[in-house]
Amino acid sequence: MSTLDVDGLIDDPDTRVIVCCGSGGVGKTTTAAAIAVRAAERGRTAVVLTIDPARRLAQALGLAELGNVPRKVTVPGFDPKGELSAMMLDMRRTFDDMVRAHAGPKRAEEVLANPFYRTISSSFSGTQEYMAMEKLGQLVAAGTWDLIVVDTPPSRSALDFLDAPQRLSTALDGRMIKLLTGPARAGGWGIRKVVSAGFGLFAKAVSTIVGGQLLADASAFVQAFDGMFGGFRERARRTYELLRSSGTAFVVVAAPEPDALREAGYFVQRLASESMPLAGLVVNRTHPVLATLPAPKALGAAANLEATGNAPLAAAVLRLHADRVALAQRENRLVARFTKAHPAVAQIHVPAMAADVHDLAGLRHIGNRLTHTP
Ligand SMILES: Nc1ncnc2c1ncn2[C@@H]1O[C@H](COP(=O)(O)OP(=O)(O)OP(=O)(O)O)[C@@H](O)[C@H]1O
Ligand SMILES: [Mg+2]
Repeated sequence: MSTLDVDGLIDDPDTRVIVCCGSGGVGKTTTAAAIAVRAAERGRTAVVLTIDPARRLAQALGLAELGNVPRKVTVPGFDPKGELSAMMLDMRRTFDDMVRAHAGPKRAEEVLANPFYRTISSSFSGTQEYMAMEKLGQLVAAGTWDLIVVDTPPSRSALDFLDAPQRLSTALDGRMIKLLTGPARAGGWGIRKVVSAGFGLFAKAVSTIVGGQLLADASAFVQAFDGMFGGFRERARRTYELLRSSGTAFVVVAAPEPDALREAGYFVQRLASESMPLAGLVVNRTHPVLATLPAPKALGAAANLEATGNAPLAAAVLRLHADRVALAQRENRLVARFTKAHPAVAQIHVPAMAADVHDLAGLRHIGNRLTHTP
C-alpha cells in the first residue's frame, strides 16, 4: 500500500478537478475544504464547491449567507500565495438558472412558475447530485480557476453521486412523463383533454391520486421542458466525461468503520470500471495510539492497582488506554481488510481531532495530516 500524496496532487498543475466522495458523515466537506485551503496556500487559484457545510465551517470560509456563485475567501488570517474562492451549492437556484439558460425567457418563466416544477426541483431524488455535477460543469466552463475542489452531497451511498444524474435524466424523460405528455403528441389522449373531459381510466385514477390540477401542471411542465431533455442528458454526459479525464482526481473518504470502508471499496471498484481516475483513500477520524504499552499489560496493571485500592485514577487511565489500544487495533484490522482487497489504492490516515473542524486553523491542521506534515 502506498501513501496518498496530497501535496503532489495539488502541486501538479495538471490536476484540475478533485472530487471528494464517500458515504454520509465521513468528512467529505471537511476534506474538500482542507484540500482547497492548502492548495491556495501553496499557490493554486482554487475554488471549492461545498454542499451543506456546517454553519461554522461556512462562516470560517466567509460564506455567511447562501450564495450560488463562488466568492473569494477573504477572512482574517488567510493570506494565501494563490487564491481561494468558495461557494455553497444552492440546489434550487442552480436548477432555476439552468432553466433560464436553456429555455427561452418566456418559457423559462412558465416553467419556474409551474407548481410541478417547484416540487420536482427540490424533491426529486438525485436532484442534488445532478445539480452538483451541473455546477461543476459551469465552474469548469468559467475557466477562472486552475483547481476545482468538489464536495459531494450527503448520501447513504457514495455511488449515488455517479448514479443520480443518470437516474434523474432517465426519470425526466422516462415513461411516466411520456405517459403524461405522450397524448399531446400522439393525439387523442391529451392529459389536459382527458382531465377536462373526465374520461380515460388511467388518467382518472392518476388524477384521483395526485389531483387534477397537479396533473395539468405536470403536463404543462413537461411540455415547457420539452426539447430540454436532450440538453439535460447531453450536459450530464459531458460532465461524466470530464470526470473521466486525466485532469480529474477522486479522493475517496471513509471512516475506519465497516460500512464506510465497504462503501469505499464499492466506489473504488466502480471508478476502476468506469476508468475514472482515483487518487486514493483518506481514512478520516482514526484513533492511533502513540504509547506502546499493550492493552493486556495495561489491564493487568489496572487490575493490580484496583486490588490494592491505591491510585484509582491511575487504574482508570490504564483502562482507558486499553480501550484506546483495542479501538486502534480494530481500526487497523478494518483498514487492513480494505488494503488486502485493494492493494493498489494509496491511503492516508487522518486522526480524529479533539473537536469539530470549523475554522481555518482546523482546516490547516487537517491539511497537514492529509500530507503527513506533523
Ligand atoms: N478528522 C476529524 N476530526 C474531528 N472532527 C472531524 C474530522 N473530520 C470531520 N470532522 C467533523 O465531523 C463532522 C462531519 O464532517 P463533514 O461534514 O466533513 O462530513 P461529510 O462527509 O461532509 O458529511 P455529509 O455526508 O453529511 O455531508 C463535522 O462536524 C466535522 O467538523
Ligand atoms: Mg458534507
